[in-house]
Amino acid sequence: MRAFIVDRYKKKSALRLGEMPEPALRDDDVLVEIHAAGLNLLDSKVRDGEFKLILPYRPPFVLGHDLAGIVVRIGAKVRHFKPGDEVYARPRDGRVGTFAEFIAVNEADLALKPENLTMEEAASIPLVGLTAWQVLVERAGLRKGQKVLIHAGSGGVGTFAIQLAKHLGATVATTTSTANAELVRSLGADVVIDYKNEDFEKVLSDYDVVLNSLDGATLQKSLKVLKPGGKLISISGPPDPAFAREQGLNWFLQQLLRLLSFGIRRKAKGRGVSYSFLFMRANGEQLRQITALIEAGIIRPVVDRIFPFEATNEALAYIETGRSKGKVVVKLR
Ligand SMILES: NC(=O)c1ccc[n+]([C@@H]2O[C@H](COP(=O)([O-])OP(=O)(O)OC[C@H]3O[C@@H](n4cnc5c(N)ncnc54)[C@H](OP(=O)(O)O)[C@@H]3O)[C@@H](O)[C@H]2O)c1
Repeated sequence: MRAFIVDRYKKKSALRLGEMPEPALRDDDVLVEIHAAGLNLLDSKVRDGEFKLILPYRPPFVLGHDLAGIVVRIGAKVRHFKPGDEVYARPRDGRVGTFAEFIAVNEADLALKPENLTMEEAASIPLVGLTAWQVLVERAGLRKGQKVLIHAGSGGVGTFAIQLAKHLGATVATTTSTANAELVRSLGADVVIDYKNEDFEKVLSDYDVVLNSLDGATLQKSLKVLKPGGKLISISGPPDPAFAREQGLNWFLQQLLRLLSFGIRRKAKGRGVSYSFLFMRANGEQLRQITALIEAGIIRPVVDRIFPFEATNEALAYIETGRSKGKVVVKLR
């Protein structure tokens, strides 16, 4: 099968379009013919070698974390899917590789694709949708009447998180540039901070939750908008000791992550708020709940650009500019 392959870890290196063997199917796997694949900055970071210690993929390997497609074959123990089903997924770590014609996915990671979405729209959802879900629903327990600040509201995670937070009944503030203010308002944002002209930490106060996906300086300033007992949850780092334990990292790495997050954890404690890092996980059950919200018209995908499969490197370069609005997808069929 044709696939985009990482031959060796190297910053900004192009993926190679080449041939890989069709994936072998385990008993609880579903073989999916991929119709569209969503792109994520995680793809660039894995290619660059930034995740080598946490996700030790051995080159050559196929990159790509999001897919939508059609089930072509099922393993002996698969119970919930059959050939012909239209599905989508963020396959679990260690078994990614959606920039390819086929992939074997554990059925627990898969869900039926929302019926009202195209393959390209569906492929844009899983990683960012699950991230927003795991931050806002699982970790933050966001409730009606609470206030949440979602940074980078016009990005992949932001466009989904704003809609989910509104659905949960929260008041939503978000940061974006002037050009994207209308977009984030159309998704439901109540307070829009144009980061080029305003300092969010001077405008917002008494927030219950902050979802940070930006840099360290933004993380520090975010502490100031939280009320006592508030939660600062970051998906862009620094990773914390709890994450190191969950990942089963060795003692040395656990100490390293403890050190990396020491400053922000101490400052958070000093202000009576909590800091935690979240790294999203594959989860077919949560994806099914997301399917329901999309089919009910509560959440809609925001797709910026669709590239042909052959232009996967160009698509990656585009998201690396940091200016994409919503999601970028490559189309295979
Ligand atoms: N830990 C996890 O599980 C996890 C999961 C998903 C993503 N992430 C990480 O989270 C980060 C965001 O991911 P993403 O896919 O949402 O990114 P993205 O889609 O590439 O974000 C692009 C958007 O960010 C906005 N932006 C850039 N700088 C900004 C700033 N200073 N203030 C406000 N908005 C700004 C841009 O809007 P303007 O053009 O208006 O500036 C653009 O629309 C990445 O680092 C990614 O790796 C982590």
